[in-house]
Amino acid sequence: MPSDTFGPPARTAVLCGLAGWVPPRVVTNDELADRLDTDDTWIRTRTGIRSRHLADPGQATSDLAVEAGRRALRSAGGEPADTVIVTTTTPDRPCPATAPVVAARLGLTGAAAFDVGAVCTGFVYGLATAAGLIAAGVARRVLLIGADTYSGIVDPLDRANAIIFGDGAGAVVLRAGDADEPGAVGHFDLGSDGAHEDLITVEAGGSRQRSTTVEPTHAQRHFAMRGKEVYRHAVTRMAASARATLEHAGWKTDDVDHFVPHQANLRILHSVADDLGLPRERCVVNVDTVGNTGAASIPLALADAVARRRVRPGDRLLITAFGGGLTWGSCLTTWPDLADHPQPERTTP
Ligand code: UT7
Repeated sequence: MPSDTFGPPARTAVLCGLAGWVPPRVVTNDELADRLDTDDTWIRTRTGIRSRHLADPGQATSDLAVEAGRRALRSAGGEPADTVIVTTTTPDRPCPATAPVVAARLGLTGAAAFDVGAVCTGFVYGLATAAGLIAAGVARRVLLIGADTYSGIVDPLDRANAIIFGDGAGAVVLRAGDADEPGAVGHFDLGSDGAHEDLITVEAGGSRQRSTTVEPTHAQRHFAMRGKEVYRHAVTRMAASARATLEHAGWKTDDVDHFVPHQANLRILHSVADDLGLPRERCVVNVDTVGNTGAASIPLALADAVARRRVRPGDRLLITAFGGGLTWGSCLTTWPDLADHPQPERTTP
């Protein structure tokens, strides 16, 4: 229930809007096989991916974020947000942050606006940040957007990575509410292990590798991932984080109607579900049609599942992410009824 003038102010973050958006250009595995030493069968069996959407040259992360953000605000009834958080690994530029640009384009000039960087865990870190701002009374309505254009940092000739990543954006709106309402987000588990910073990197472009003194090499300018090691960490860290969140909330595996994981690779998602003792059918999956969309992947998967009416009001969700850093995180929510406003549209067929 929203807070009124009597009693304590509502201070729990409650989901009240959701949307996803992907750029229209679809790239199939066969198209990638035309220019890379790979094939559809290898990609499908190793990753579960059939196609992905890629931004056109000139289409920046903020362009995707604005599309998802506008739709999410509409699905939350159109009320303006007082805070805009963009979580991304592929900001428009190193400076300024992408969120103020997005806020201005959404007509939210004056709102607090900043970026959160936690690579593919960014959306869960963003949710926790939004929840903290609401709990502290600093924000009352937060637009949180996960958006990434990996096509700008992945070498198109790197067959190990070019097959995995897609571009997209997903957004939610969180309002101040009460802990017992559907949509209340909580029981966060967040973690990191920077000793493994070298597993997922873009070496150049920051203060460590200064382009003013040494011209970066082709490899240093592009995204690099030690896939096999990352795979192993992803399974163990996601399962441990999910378990920590369930224990914190006193939920059993059976209490979870849908597991909404970062869409890294279908085999990873199934391994985590197996490890938790969750039937694989309870995994929300759209990696087959969008690939790994980084910080966008969880809200995008959720928006697709809600649009397909697979996730329904009252369903209990376990959300878990993992990414470079290394970083990981989980939280829980019960899906709210958003039927009063425009529902998320399907982003893919
Ligand atoms: O979002 C952040 C978190 N990211 C992830 O969680 C990604 C985690 N990693 C993965 O999803 C997988 O490790 C990959 C999909 C990246 C790779 O799958 P894999 O089963 O671990 O393959 P691999 O790296 O062990 O490579 C096996 C073989 C190698 O050949 P050799 O050395 O056995 O002869 C690779 O060169 O497959 C080769 N290979 C390919 N072959 C055809 C690598 N990429 C390709 C390709 N097509 N695209």
